[in-house]
Amino acid sequence: MSKKPIRLAVVVGSTRKGRLGPTVAKWFIEQARTHGDLDIAVLDLAEAGLPAELSGPPKDGVYASPQVTAYAAEVAAADAFVVITPEYNRGYPAGLKLAIDSVYSEWHAKPVAFVSHGGYSGGLRAVEQLRQVFVELHAMTIRDSVSFPMANEQFSEGGKPRDAEGAAVAAKQMLNQLVWWAEALRTAREDRPYAF
Ligand SMILES: Cc1cc2nc3c(=O)[nH]c(=O)nc-3n(C[C@H](O)[C@H](O)[C@H](O)COP(=O)(O)O)c2cc1C
Repeated sequence: MSKKPIRLAVVVGSTRKGRLGPTVAKWFIEQARTHGDLDIAVLDLAEAGLPAELSGPPKDGVYASPQVTAYAAEVAAADAFVVITPEYNRGYPAGLKLAIDSVYSEWHAKPVAFVSHGGYSGGLRAVEQLRQVFVELHAMTIRDSVSFPMANEQFSEGGKPRDAEGAAVAAKQMLNQLVWWAEALRTAREDRPYAF
C-alpha cells in the first residue's frame, strides 16, 4: 500500500469579483493542515482560465487548450477533492460546471467532499445538485459536508466563522470520511486501474 500523503485538491468554485469563496477556502485549508498528512493543492477556478467552450477529449494527455491541459494535470494528480461552492439561484456556479465538464477520466474513482456557503440555504441545494453531477464522473461523494448559512455574516470577523468550534468539528468529521475513501480508492486504483 502506498504511504505517500493524500494529495487533496481544494477547488474554489466561485469566480466573481469580491467573492467570499477564497475566505472560506482559506479557513478550510487551515483545518485540513491540522488534520494530518495531506498534500494540499488549491485549484482556484478564477485563475484557471478555462475556455468557455469545452475542448473535447485529450490526445496523449494533451487537450486543445493549454489551460485545460494544466488544469487536467492538477485534477489527475489529486487523490481527493474538496469543492468550496456558493449557491446561486438554488444551484451551483456555472463556472464550476465548466470546470467539472472540462475533464473526465481525471475524476474517476476519487472521493469528493463539499464546503458550501450561501444565504439561508447554506449552499446545501448546490451540494445536492453537485452530487448528481459527480456520480456521472464515476466519483464518490462524501456523506458529511460543511455548510455556512448567511456566510457573509459568519465570516465577517477576520476570516473566521462565527461558530469556529462547531465548524471545525464538522470539517474534521468530513475530512475523516474523505481521507478514508481517498486511501481506500488510491489503493484500489493502484491495484487495478479503474477503466469502465
Ligand atoms: C447571483 C446570486 C444568487 C444567489 N442565490 C442564492 C440562493 O439561491 N440561495 C442562497 O442561499 N444564497 C444565494 N446567494 C448568496 C450566496 O450563495 C452567498 O452570498 C455566497 O457566500 C456567495 O459566494 P461568493 O461571494 O463566493 O460568490 C446568491 C448570490 C448571488 C450572487
